[in-house]
Amino acid sequence: MTKADFEFIRSLAYENTGIVLPERKKHMVYSRLSRRLRQLNLKDFTQYCSFVSNTPDERIHFINALTTNLTAFFREGHHFDYLEQVVIPEWQRKSKKRLRVWSSACSTGEEPYSIAMTLEKHFPISQWDLKILATDLDTNVLEKASIGNYSRDSVTNLPARYLDKYVRHTADNQHIQMRSNIQKMIHFKQLNLLEKWPMNGPFDAIFCRNVLIYFDNETKQKIIAKFRKMLSPQGYLFIGHSETLVNISEEFDLIGQTIYRPLGHGGKKLAKPKFSAHHL
Ligand SMILES: C[S@@+](CC[C@H](N)C(=O)[O-])C[C@H]1O[C@@H](n2cnc3c(N)ncnc32)[C@H](O)[C@@H]1O
Repeated sequence: MTKADFEFIRSLAYENTGIVLPERKKHMVYSRLSRRLRQLNLKDFTQYCSFVSNTPDERIHFINALTTNLTAFFREGHHFDYLEQVVIPEWQRKSKKRLRVWSSACSTGEEPYSIAMTLEKHFPISQWDLKILATDLDTNVLEKASIGNYSRDSVTNLPARYLDKYVRHTADNQHIQMRSNIQKMIHFKQLNLLEKWPMNGPFDAIFCRNVLIYFDNETKQKIIAKFRKMLSPQGYLFIGHSETLVNISEEFDLIGQTIYRPLGHGGKKLAKPKFSAHHL
């Protein structure tokens, strides 16, 4: 991969996804795109760069190859403790029985399924209009997410109360299948956080975890400002463990570990709920 190839790839990735690829990621880019070169029978990256710039349909493969999709069920368990102990009791007191939650970089689906498992028993579908929107840029991960089939190893940390109710072991005993009661709660859609969002909101909670780290400050600021508009005034924003809104937005109040609520008019803070962490 020549210097010019890498420059071309990093600027195309930035324009299309917001993902910043510093020089130290050159090796990662090389190994992820090499697979695609082999599939296409191309002899070098210069050929690939010209192919991707002249073939609009190749963009999606290019993007899918460059996204990092690491995720897990109940990743950053303190967010789910907080949902269970603070947010759910508050939502149960809502007079309007409507809930909207958005997992905005859902990867292979473990995050929205974890949200759905946490919410299901508290909000019976006969009484509540509850929908979880789960979006990602990468079409490959979304396909896996909507199928809801995972290796058995991926659920070893799942509490038995969830396993029994929401997960079915497949015939080979090596995989699990999410049950339809939980799948029905989630709507998977492709969405690029950089582009226009087709939905209106408002959302009661937005999860945007472990994706902001790939963006520069300008992109983070734009996305967070849009989240502010999409969130209900009493909503919650959950971001990843190594992410922060410091220097990104002054429209949110930090109320827990990487958990934010919008500030009201004149920067007014909502009351900070009491919470003591205890993991699943
Ligand atoms: C590391 S995963 C995080 C998954 C999950 N939120 C979690 O914390 O476990 C990051 C995800 O962000 C997605 N992503 C990257 N750029 C994006 C963009 N511009 N719009 C939407 N999703 C994007 C990737 O495809 C990837 O699946």
